[in-house]
Amino acid sequence: MTQDEKIYKGLAGVVVDTTAISKVVQETNSLTYRGYPVQELAGAVSFEEVAYLIWHGELPTASQLEEFTARERAQRALDPKVKDLILSLPADTHPMHVVQAAVAYIGGLDPDAEVETPEANLAKAERLYAQLPAIVALDHRRRHGLDAVDPDPELGYSANFFKMTFGEVPEQATVDAFDISMILYAEHSFNASTFTARVITSTTSDLYSAVAGAIGALKGALHGGANEAVMATLEEVGSVENVKPWLDKALGEKRKVMGFGHRVYKNGDSRVPTMRKAFEAMAEAKGATELLDLYNAFEEEFVSRKGIYPNLDYPSGPAYHLMGFDTQAFTPIFVMSRITGWTAHIFEQQASNALIRPLSAYNGVDQRPVPAREG
Ligand code: ACO
Repeated sequence: MTQDEKIYKGLAGVVVDTTAISKVVQETNSLTYRGYPVQELAGAVSFEEVAYLIWHGELPTASQLEEFTARERAQRALDPKVKDLILSLPADTHPMHVVQAAVAYIGGLDPDAEVETPEANLAKAERLYAQLPAIVALDHRRRHGLDAVDPDPELGYSANFFKMTFGEVPEQATVDAFDISMILYAEHSFNASTFTARVITSTTSDLYSAVAGAIGALKGALHGGANEAVMATLEEVGSVENVKPWLDKALGEKRKVMGFGHRVYKNGDSRVPTMRKAFEAMAEAKGATELLDLYNAFEEEFVSRKGIYPNLDYPSGPAYHLMGFDTQAFTPIFVMSRITGWTAHIFEQQASNALIRPLSAYNGVDQRPVPAREG
């Protein structure tokens, strides 16, 4: 390593490229999609409208939305081969591996997988967006020993997902809270999984490969896997009385507490107040005061000790729990939403590509001759 080689560990602070999809403003803790603040989009428009916005740059007109939702509803059903693949995997296969395998298989079945026109790639993105809910719902049902429920073309995106997962649609407030979480998770500039998708795309590999790679990056607990880890933590802590002793031990062991901290936001994640409100509404509707009290006590104690604020995974984990999803489904649900952001970035990368290939500073042994073999 030479003295003038500066190392940007974790690429922290490095601006890699431009993007017109979303903007994270560190100083004001704000996030916009195509110029619109996410907290204003959440509750004002549907996740379908946000998906359209992320891909096309503008919110859809009424007729554009009608055509867009009709295409999504028509493509919801899985190819029987994909269903068979999911059902053939061991019951304890990690749900993110199930989703990753299903996406790769859908790519394998697509005769246009290697066609790289913008139209063909948008069609692939729309297909994954339409089919991911069926993949996640089928995996959830098989974990509970239940048969698949067919998609319902009469229902909107979020209501249909509940129907495919539980066989029925819950009260509107729950569907709305879920839709808000989908909007908040949809896009977040050059996060680790999106960057993974862009790296794969930069080699001119196909969209399915880029999405499968992004799913792998999202699985980790420092990224999307945190929403599951939050629920596991709250379950482990168990009671308000146990918050202090639990944190004494965890922080004493220098453990990271999931659902807190962020590479970019250092004064709080702009998506949290909106998701927190949705979680509180769920908790009140379900009479889950114990969980809400634990959530508040844990946050207060952690923030006062570390000065590190919650990220989106902190309220979304317990909110999904109250909606009835098992914990293993939380990160696959994140995939259902982030497919929109990932694929928008894949399109951007394709439109102005440069192979992403950073350098490394070698710090191994000096060059040396290969020893001569004896005999
Ligand atoms: N718990 C305890 N300590 C923390 C936490 C945390 N959640 N987050 C940061 N810190 C501490 C670190 O230990 C480190 O302390 P040190 O300087 O004494 O070593 C300091 O704060 C800086 O932390 P880094 O991990 O270096 O900061 P970075 O910007 O790389 O971290 C990250 C961001 C990875 C998200 C981190 O905050 C973390 O691990 N959080 C928990 C995982 C999580 O919730 N991930 C979800 C991200 S949001 C999303 O994907 C939707």
